[in-house]
This record gives sequence, C-alpha cells and structure tokens, in this order.
Amino acid sequence: MAGSPPVGRTSVSAAVNPDRLWHRHLAIARIGATGRGGVNRQALTPEDAEARRQVLAWAAARGFTASVDAIGNLFVRRAGSDPAAAPVVSGSHLDTQPTGGNFDGIFGVLAALEVLDAAEEAHIQTRRPLDLVIWTNEEGARFQPTTMGSAVFAGALPLAAALDTLDGRGVSVKAALAEALAAAPVPDRRPFGFPVAAYLEAHIEQGPILEATGMTIGVVTGIQGLRWYRVEVTGEEAHAGTMPLAQRRDALLAAMEMVQGLRELMADPSDTVRFTVGRFEVQPNSPNTVCGRALFTIDFRHPHPEVLARLGDRVEAVCRAHARGCAVEVAETLHSPPTAFSPVVAGLIRAAAERHSLPYADIVSGATHDAKHLAGLCPTGMIFVPCARGISHNEAERASPADLAAGTRVLADVVVELANQ
Ligand code: GLV
Ligand code: MN
Ligand code: MN
Repeated sequence: MAGSPPVGRTSVSAAVNPDRLWHRHLAIARIGATGRGGVNRQALTPEDAEARRQVLAWAAARGFTASVDAIGNLFVRRAGSDPAAAPVVSGSHLDTQPTGGNFDGIFGVLAALEVLDAAEEAHIQTRRPLDLVIWTNEEGARFQPTTMGSAVFAGALPLAAALDTLDGRGVSVKAALAEALAAAPVPDRRPFGFPVAAYLEAHIEQGPILEATGMTIGVVTGIQGLRWYRVEVTGEEAHAGTMPLAQRRDALLAAMEMVQGLRELMADPSDTVRFTVGRFEVQPNSPNTVCGRALFTIDFRHPHPEVLARLGDRVEAVCRAHARGCAVEVAETLHSPPTAFSPVVAGLIRAAAERHSLPYADIVSGATHDAKHLAGLCPTGMIFVPCARGISHNEAERASPADLAAGTRVLADVVVELANQ
C-alpha cells in the first residue's frame, strides 16, 4: 500500500518496546488493586486521578504536552511538522468496573503512549501531531451513561447534563471532576470537538472469538447497538408475618416477574441478543418487610437496528404487564445505534497485520467503546487483541504481553501512516 512504512529498523513499529508496555500495565494495575488480581478504579475517584498522574508523568518525562477539556478528557501531544494540521488521535480509558481487570481500556491508553514513545525513539517526524487521549468515564459504572467523556466531546451529550449526573451516593460528576483535576492538574484547556484527522483505539476483544479462532488481530468493522433502561417499581412496605399475600404490593416479586418476562421477550436461538440485568436494588432490604421499592437496570445489545428497535420498544410494555399492582417507571437512559467504522482505516489495519505476518480477522465489537462517538467525526478504527477465555469486566481478565505488543505494532504503523497523509 502506498505510504506504508516498511517493517524494519526505521519503522515506528520496530521501536515499540514490549517490556516497557508490559511494565506500564503492571504499574497501572497497582492503582486501585483489589488484592484479588483486579482493580477498582472507577471514574473520577482518587484512584482514577492517580492513574492519570502516572500517565502524565510518563508523558512529561518525554516532553510531550498535555491538555484537558471541560469534561476531563485528557490529551497528550507529540507535535507534528505542520502545527496547523489536525492530529491523529489514539487512546481509550483508565477507569474500570468495580471489579475490573488490568487490560480493559488501559491497554488502549498505554498502546497509544507507546506509539508516541516509539516515534520519538525512532526519530520519526510525522506531519500531523500524534495525540493520546484518555476519555473520562467510559465504563458508566459509577456515573451513567457509559462513554460519557467521548459523548460530550462529540456533542452527543450536553456538558451540563453530564456534569449534573450523580453517582449512587449523590456525588455529582462536576464535584468529582473538580477533585480529580485538582489531584492530577493539567493547566492547558482544550475545546470540545476540535478537528481530528483520524481516531484509532486498541482494546482487548473482551469476548472469546479471537482466541477460539487463533487470531492475534481483530480488525473491528463496527460496534453493535446498545440500549439501557432503568426500571423503578414502587409497591408498599408491609409486615412479612401479617399481610396476606393477596393484599400485598410486593415490588421485588413484581420486578422478578418483569425480568422473567423480559428474558422471554429476548429469547434468541441464535444467541445474538445480549440481555443483562446487572444492577438490582431493593428497599428496605429487610428479611421481614415486604419490599416497597425495587430498581433494576437493563443492558440490551444487538448488531441489527431493526432488532434493537423491535425488542427494545417492547421493554416498557413487558414491565407494565407484570406490575402486580405496583407503580412502574421505565426510563431509557441510553440508545446507541450500531456503528460502522471506516473501511479505509480497516484496510490499513489489515495491511499492517499482514506486513507483520499476524493472523487477523474482521470482527464486530460486542462491547461498546468511545470510538463509536468519534466515528461520526472522523475516519475511525479499532484494533482488538485476544483476552483469555474472552473474560472481561472481571478481575480474572488476562491478555498476553506478546499479543499486546503485536496490537501496538499494528497501531503504531497505522497511526504514523495516517499522520503523514
Ligand atoms: C463498556 O465497557 C461496555 O459496556 O460495553
Ligand atoms: Mn473498555
Ligand atoms: Mn469496560
């Protein structure tokens, strides 16, 4: 392919340092470590801020400049020869699930940093700047919705709405962000939605396909669609020993039947539908009081928009059909259609994998990613590497140093190639 850097002494990918990449993963894994092999580094916590500080220190040691926008998305720049040219941006997130692993998100950040370091060490001057980005609150575990920082950057979520979002303890994004930025200060400000020449994100697959098929590189062609709902069921608290069953308005019982009804709605012999009730809260949560209030979340995903619409649009009716006399409120908190990535960027990823003799295959992402918001702004692509048994959002998440290095080499080649266009 014209303009492709050769794999050799002078290429950026040859300067990728697998040891440095791996040791940085180990260093970040210590921040928020749970002691059970994983991490709890939820968005805008002191642990998230500490991880940001560590990346900023690595960047400062190279003389790279840093800036931050009003939702806390953090950018690190290696300058290009044309200061007016839009940057090629690459990165991911540092926040994790409450019982998260050591690779989801972090790999994309450290791979992008490795590309900047490798370009520096190989004395490669790109025309465009190379920007590393750390998106704020990708996980959506502490503050909903997921991919908050990139959504605000892309104009898909108003800044004010994001800042007003509360966590389970009533702390706002605004307050938590101020604390995180005080703990990991970045003086330079960056506007939202500045021109981006291309966006690349490296990530572990978080599913079992690459490992099962013996592939090292997943060329991500897009991301399946996602709808989130919050269901609140209000019944009436009553004494467990005295209130006859027929006279109860038991919110827990109603919520359980709703979940069963939804499982029937989502039943799919092809096993393509993804349906998860990941949060379930009851009040007063006492053994001898009939439940007065139940709250649960629904995460529903599918690659095809018509299935996403057909099944998703029936969620509220199914919940109401199982109300058992309780009041029901169903709020759709996220509706993210399927995303298609740039065929041009996918072609560059395939060509780079081929030059490195790495087995590769096209793949649609089951997980959602910040890249979906960038795809509407600029040519966008993602590079997946395998993770053991497809396990992710789990402290047992594992990826091999060799696969992480391979994905980073492919990323490096594609980023530098795009930065010279
Ligand atoms: C992001 O982690 C997702 O929920 O897909
Ligand atoms: Mn992730
Ligand atoms: Mn995740």
